[in-house]
Amino acid sequence: MTFFTFARPIIMSLQIIDSAAHMQQQAFASRAENKRIGFVPTMGYLHDGHVSLMKLLRPRCDILITSIFVNPIQFGPKEDFAQYPRDLQRDAKLCESAGVDIVFYPKVEDMYPKNFHTHVEVEYLTETLCGPWRPGHFRGVATVVCKLFNIVQPHLAAFGQKDAQQVVVIERMAQDLNLPVEIVVGPTRREPDGLAMSSRNVYLSPAERQQATALYHSLKLAERMIHDGERDSAKIISAMKSLILREVTSPVIEYVEIVDRATLHSVQTIAGEIIIALAVRIGRTRLIDNFMLTF
Ligand code: PAJ
Repeated sequence: MTFFTFARPIIMSLQIIDSAAHMQQQAFASRAENKRIGFVPTMGYLHDGHVSLMKLLRPRCDILITSIFVNPIQFGPKEDFAQYPRDLQRDAKLCESAGVDIVFYPKVEDMYPKNFHTHVEVEYLTETLCGPWRPGHFRGVATVVCKLFNIVQPHLAAFGQKDAQQVVVIERMAQDLNLPVEIVVGPTRREPDGLAMSSRNVYLSPAERQQATALYHSLKLAERMIHDGERDSAKIISAMKSLILREVTSPVIEYVEIVDRATLHSVQTIAGEIIIALAVRIGRTRLIDNFMLTF
């Protein structure tokens, strides 16, 4: 018996849809065919963290959709909306290799026409951590994610643990507003030296990039202290801040906090499911990271 092997043409199957109405029509059509829709919302400039979420959902759905939309309403007036890195060509290639079927790439005017006046506000959970430092940020995130869910009609949507507060806020919104979507959470992807992957890491100068591992080191220190029996949050936070100040030149430490996973409010004594979270500015770059631990 003879076997023939044929060189197969590369099938470019990725579809890019830039209209919300068209995207929603496609989603309804897929649902009518009983297809399960998986969704990974992003702001683009994709890295392995985003790709890991796509790979997490790929085996669990029939149609995998990613949105790429730098959402203006989640940026403060002094934040980096205009500078936020963008590269659709590169992102499309990454999406295709991760098995994405459709990239939803809407325009700002389509998502927020002139007469747009409706927002989603998740209260209480946004009072702590990044909330006070980024007024209006989570209102912008909840609003865009709610809109995206309505457009994409996903059965499953994946979010990264890297943005721990965002996960809790989206889970709360989905429950409170009875959104029929399962929220799936993927672990934080890191560079080999421990720095959490982020689209914003490109802002770091080589020296800042080296020093940025201090954030990971401080989280590891906290983990070790807790492992060794320390239960006093204040002592752990103080040791973490000292380490950051030692390893980074003139950092602006916005916060280092230990919070309950469910309430996102501070705990004095380590117990139950907790998140050790921090936000530090190194030069002009704001970095966040966290560890979630259970006792
Ligand atoms: P963006 O920062 O592009 O992140 C998109 C998704 O990727 C989020 O769920 C985020 O938590 C996840 N992610 C980012 N870095 C990660 C890492 N190192 N490991 C694992 N997952 C990671 O988060 C947003 O966009 C926006 O706020 C959005 C939800 C799209 C709303 O505009």
